[in-house]
Amino acid sequence: MQIDPDALIAEAHKAATRAYAPYSGFHVGAALLFDDGSIEGTVIRGANFENASYGLSICAETAALLDANNHGIRTGLVAVAIVGGTPAEDGTVTGNQVPVTPCGRCRQTLNEVAQLGGTDPIVYCAHATGYTQHRLSHLLPEAFGPANLT
Ligand code: THU
Repeated sequence: MQIDPDALIAEAHKAATRAYAPYSGFHVGAALLFDDGSIEGTVIRGANFENASYGLSICAETAALLDANNHGIRTGLVAVAIVGGTPAEDGTVTGNQVPVTPCGRCRQTLNEVAQLGGTDPIVYCAHATGYTQHRLSHLLPEAFGPANLT
């Protein structure tokens, strides 16, 4: 299937408007693209969801993965887009100068679904004026996953 990075990043921007980040002030949105055999695929979004007990905060990518699971989607992950930054007054996030790369924990949670479906998703990390892109296997080489438990 065709992947449109700009469209997926636009979905991540939408997701970021739902961020609950009163402690860091850093609003993150993630959009996951699943190949389900259709032309456009399925997009699932997530935003970071912080907690007064700071360490319990949930990142946007992991929030999106949980939503995908709640929709019964655990395979076919072909692309991920992430954007983050300080929101404008209307809640929109334009992104900082530095791209948002997924944190270590999110790389691992993304790897779970990637390995389950046998994919190596492209991760688009947006910033104010564009994006960088990497394969998940580049961000998390020699990953431990479900295959290691067999
Ligand atoms: N955050 C994400 O949502 N995803 C990442 O990959 C990096 C960090 C969130 C966690 C916290 O709510 C805020 O960004 C600041 O670290």
